[in-house]
Amino acid sequence: MVDVLIGLQWGDEGKGKIVDYLATHYHIIARFQGGPNAGHTLYVNGEKVVLRTIPSGVFHPDTLNLIGNGVVIDPVTLKGEIEGLKAIGIALDQNLFIAHKAHLILPSHRALDAASEQAKGTDKIGSTLKGIGPAYMDKTGRNGLRVGDILSGNWAEKYNKLKEKHSELLKLYAFDVDWAEWEKDFFEAIDYLKQLNIVNGEYWLNHHLQSGKKVLAEGAQGSMLDIDYGTYPFVTSSNTVAAGVCTGLGVAPSQIGEVYGITKAYCTRVGSGPFPSELHDETGEQLRVAGQEFGAVTKRPRRCGWIDLVALRYAVMLSGVTRLIVTKADVLDAFDTLKAAVAYKINGVTTDEFPFEISGLDIVPEYRSFPGWEKPISSCTQPEQLPVEFTEYCRFLEQYLKTRIQFVSNGTGREHLLTLF
Ligand code: GDP
Ligand code: IMO
Ligand code: MG
Repeated sequence: MVDVLIGLQWGDEGKGKIVDYLATHYHIIARFQGGPNAGHTLYVNGEKVVLRTIPSGVFHPDTLNLIGNGVVIDPVTLKGEIEGLKAIGIALDQNLFIAHKAHLILPSHRALDAASEQAKGTDKIGSTLKGIGPAYMDKTGRNGLRVGDILSGNWAEKYNKLKEKHSELLKLYAFDVDWAEWEKDFFEAIDYLKQLNIVNGEYWLNHHLQSGKKVLAEGAQGSMLDIDYGTYPFVTSSNTVAAGVCTGLGVAPSQIGEVYGITKAYCTRVGSGPFPSELHDETGEQLRVAGQEFGAVTKRPRRCGWIDLVALRYAVMLSGVTRLIVTKADVLDAFDTLKAAVAYKINGVTTDEFPFEISGLDIVPEYRSFPGWEKPISSCTQPEQLPVEFTEYCRFLEQYLKTRIQFVSNGTGREHLLTLF
């Protein structure tokens, strides 16, 4: 059985922390899409760790971790992550596996990402510039290089062929970056990657499933960044919704069990693109400061706003979420009033459906207000200790989203998690 855990907003919902918590209930944690654009933060023994490509199960010695075929891997980042974990006593030799069909991010993909963003000017996506878009473009364009290719006899030939193509493209962009310098690190990392546990991901996983193992598929990014259903073109280049699990890991839809969907108690977005409930005022700033809303990967300030239930209900529908998880509840401690967007007024017409296009429209969210609890909730260790104002807020979310909240996260640590059912 494969359970799924995905972000329901624009990423950074706290997936890493929750996967680390849930990992004890699973034999295998598997990443199915995305790449080092992800930054999943965990606190282990008070120490902060940010994972980029590696699944968030690695702090549990008995849990196996798979980087699935749907992921795009930058060997340099992966090597850095593994070495960083080794330095804090986490050895992954026995429990990290890499699907041989996962595609590689080359130095020239990173250069192309930067060139493409530069060419877009004010329309830029706000990419993390990790080469994600160009790597997925080569995948769907049938030009990409996969992990299994590094073990083949003609790897150098394949690499050079693609590099040549990229060089020509970069000339068209008139983009000047000495990415050849990045190649030294890249080839060292390729040699490093060859020593890791490279497996036939779909057989590896299905054999484990047949022997009764439980798998948790760990999403990266968030549903509103999905290539098909997100706020296109301001999205990432993979399917972040639950459907991505089947293609990203090679498992059948009939294997999917629970779908955990994570939302912050408010909302953030990093990078460009529509964000209807964004606050450009002091309240937005208060959220950013209280939630320490700065990107785990790029350190950019995250845009902040109230929770957007129109977008959330859309995300819940797309993935068939069965259990909700609300994170960063403690960030709202100091607010006397909370708001939730329950509909949009678009050019004067009210709708509770997420529209085709938001950019350029006169869109005004309609809010419902709630009294705040105005006391710290990080110290609550039992659901009964939660303030009534908070439980009323949660009840409204459950009613609107027609899905029950299973966990509430009220702080960064492993101990800051309340189980509601
Ligand atoms: P991810 O990409 O979904 O794994 O999320 P990130 O790690 O990018 O961002 C979430 C941030 O919120 C991290 O810095 C976490 O340590 C932090 N965080 C997670 N849950 C909570 C919570 O309940 N309360 C507070 N205050 N911080 C949290
Ligand atoms: P996690 O897994 C938040 C955003 C970027 C940009 C857009 C496209 O930590 O939640 P890309 O690098 O994919 O070309 O960027 O998507 N983005 C994220 N925002 N969290 C993430 O991952 C993100 N990964 C990409 O900021 O707007
Ligand atoms: Mg993140």
